Amino acid sequence: MDPLKNTNLLFKNKDFQNHLQKINAYEVNRQFCRHTIEHFLSVARIASIKTLEAGFNYPRDLIYTTALLHDIGRFVQYQDNTPHEIASHQLAIPLLESLDYSDGQKTLILDAIRNHRNPEAEGFSRIIYESDKLSRACYACPVEQECDWSRDKKNLTIVY
Ligand SMILES: [Fe+2]
Ligand SMILES: [Fe+2]
Repeated sequence: MDPLKNTNLLFKNKDFQNHLQKINAYEVNRQFCRHTIEHFLSVARIASIKTLEAGFNYPRDLIYTTALLHDIGRFVQYQDNTPHEIASHQLAIPLLESLDYSDGQKTLILDAIRNHRNPEAEGFSRIIYESDKLSRACYACPVEQECDWSRDKKNLTIVY
């Protein structure tokens, strides 16, 4: 049995791959943080650690699925300035349809996507919010000085 059954189904989904390719095309010359599968998996792994640390028991599959979807609408933001947490939430709804999650789990995933840039987020959404920020390797970034993240937000040491 594949413990990441839904996540792997999602990764192979044609629409998901199309969205990912569009993001990559928009970001081909981007010097700051990109929104690639590597970023999604960093968020997934940090969120898995944080879930254990916090004593929650969200399934790893659900954590990874959320991380794979949280920025999937980034290309829409490049197209028409729609905030990407809203675009990602909208694109995630049909993508979740073919996956084996309960209605309650789908709500948890969609809420976390919608709130991944909300500093007031709580519970699972908070874990995704924090993991997203922690995933960025500012300490190894050649353009850290030019990045508009405030100094206190930047990850200047390895934590996860
Ligand atoms: Fe994002
Ligand atoms: Fe992100």
